[in-house]
Amino acid sequence: MTTRTTDEADPRTAPSPLPRWRADLRLGSRIVAMRAGGLALAVRGDPVARLMHRPWRLDPYPTYARLRAAGEASGGVARSRTGIRAVATHEACTAVLRDRRFGVRLADGRMPFDPTDDASTASGGPSNHDPTDPGTALIEPIDLSLLGLDAPDHTRLRRLAQPTFAPKRLAQYRETARAVTGRLLDGAPADGPFDLVSALAAPLPISVISELLAIPDVDTPRFAAWGRVVGAALDGVRSVRHAHALSRATADLRALFADLVERRRADPGEDVISQLVHALDEGTLTLDELVSLAQLLLIAGFETTTNLVGNAARALHTSGTWDDLVADPGLAAAVVEETLRWDPPVQLTARFAHSDVELGGQRLRRDTGVLVLLASAGRDPAAHPDPDRFDPHREQATTHLAFSGGAHYCLGAALARMEGEVALEMLAERRPRLRPAGRFVPRVATVLRGPRRFGVRAD
Ligand code: HEM
Repeated sequence: MTTRTTDEADPRTAPSPLPRWRADLRLGSRIVAMRAGGLALAVRGDPVARLMHRPWRLDPYPTYARLRAAGEASGGVARSRTGIRAVATHEACTAVLRDRRFGVRLADGRMPFDPTDDASTASGGPSNHDPTDPGTALIEPIDLSLLGLDAPDHTRLRRLAQPTFAPKRLAQYRETARAVTGRLLDGAPADGPFDLVSALAAPLPISVISELLAIPDVDTPRFAAWGRVVGAALDGVRSVRHAHALSRATADLRALFADLVERRRADPGEDVISQLVHALDEGTLTLDELVSLAQLLLIAGFETTTNLVGNAARALHTSGTWDDLVADPGLAAAVVEETLRWDPPVQLTARFAHSDVELGGQRLRRDTGVLVLLASAGRDPAAHPDPDRFDPHREQATTHLAFSGGAHYCLGAALARMEGEVALEMLAERRPRLRPAGRFVPRVATVLRGPRRFGVRAD
C-alpha cells in the first residue's frame, strides 16, 4: 500500500543507471498514465475509482452508500472495473478482517501493490513492479512493519510491541497529554484566528508518541512534515516530487531510529526502543525490523490522531453539538467514539485472498484484493440507526471499525482515544467559544481523512 523510494537500484538486478532526469521522466509519465486511467474509470462511474479521485474523494460517503447497495445484490461484495472487490457493510467488513484466508500480502508473501500506481489501492492485483525497469527503480515497496506483515512474522513483532500499550502506561501518557494540551492552548490566541491543526491537533500526538519512544529534542514541524509525506504515500506515490520527498523522509526516519538504537544500547531506559534493543540482542528481531517498527509507531501514532481531533472539532460544529460538549466536557469520550464511527481518520484498508475463496456467494481467485471500507461500515444503517447523523449522545457507537479488526486491530486504539478525549475536553473547557473561522483544508488523500488546516477562532 505504501512505498519506499530509493535512489540506488539493486546492482544485481538493475540495468546500467539512467540519468536521474530520465528516470524521473519515466516515473512521472507512468504516474500520469495511472492517474488518467483511474480518473477515466471514475468519470464513467466506477465507485472504487471514485474513492481515489477528486471531486468524489472529498466526500466519499455517497460513494460508500452506492457500494453498500451494490454489495447487497451480490452477497455484500461489490465489484469494480479496477479488478478489485470492495466490502462496504459492517457485517462484510468484519467478516473479511477476521477471515484467516485473507492477509495483507499476496499468497506467496510478496507485497501486493505496484508502487508507481497511484490508484494502486484500487487495482489490488499482484504487483507488476519491474525491478529491471529504470522507471520504477526509483521506488520500491516501503517497509510498513506490522501493517505489511502476515503471520508468523506479524505475530512475533506484534508481541514485542504490545507491552508499550499496556493499560498502566496509559495513565502516564494521559498526564503527558494533559500537560502538553495545556501548554499548547496557552499558546493559541484567545482573541484572533488560528489553525487548530498546527496549534493543537498535530503537536499533541507528536509530543505523546515522542515520549513513548523517548525521542530527544523533538522537532515538531519536521515530524509533522514527515508524517504528511509518508501518510500521503498510503495512497501511492503522487508525483516525482512526492517520490523524492518520500525518499528523503524515509532516509531521515531510518537515520533517526538507527541513532536512537545505538543510544539506548549504551544507555537503556524504560521506553519501547530499549525493550526492542533487548529483543534485538536476544535475536528475536533484526535491526531492520526494529527500525521499521519504531517508524510505524511514530507515523501511525500521530497522523491518525491529528485527524481524529480535527474531524471531531469539525463534526461538532457542523452538527450543532459543540455547545453540548461545552456544557458537559465529560461528553468528550462519546464525541471521540462518534467521530470514529461517523468520519474516521483511517477510511479503508485492504486484504488479499491467500487461496481461491468463496466470499458472499462469489468466487474470488487467489491474490484478489478486497478493499475493506471501514468508514462505510460506520454509516451502515443495518449497524447504526440514522447513520448519517452525527450524535455524540447515541448508544453503542463503539461498534465502529475505525481501528480495524482481527489480527491487525490498532495497537494504539486506547492511546488514541485518550488523546482525543483530553484534547476535546480541554478545548471545550479552555476555549468554549471556539468556532470555525477560515478554511477547512482537507488532506489530499483517500486512506487518511482529516484536515491539513482548520481555521478557527475562540473570542
Ligand atoms: C484515531 C487514531 C487511530 C486510528 C483511527 C487508527 C487506525 C488504525 C487502523 C485502521 C489500523 C489497522 C489497519 C489494517 O487493518 O490494515 C491500525 C493499526 C495500527 N495502529 Fe492505529 N490508529 C490510530 C492511532 C494509533 C496510535 C496512537 C498508535 C500508536 C502508536 C497506533 C499504532 C498502530 C499500529 C502499531 C498498528 C499496526 C497493528 C498491526 O498491524 O498489528 N495507531 N490503526
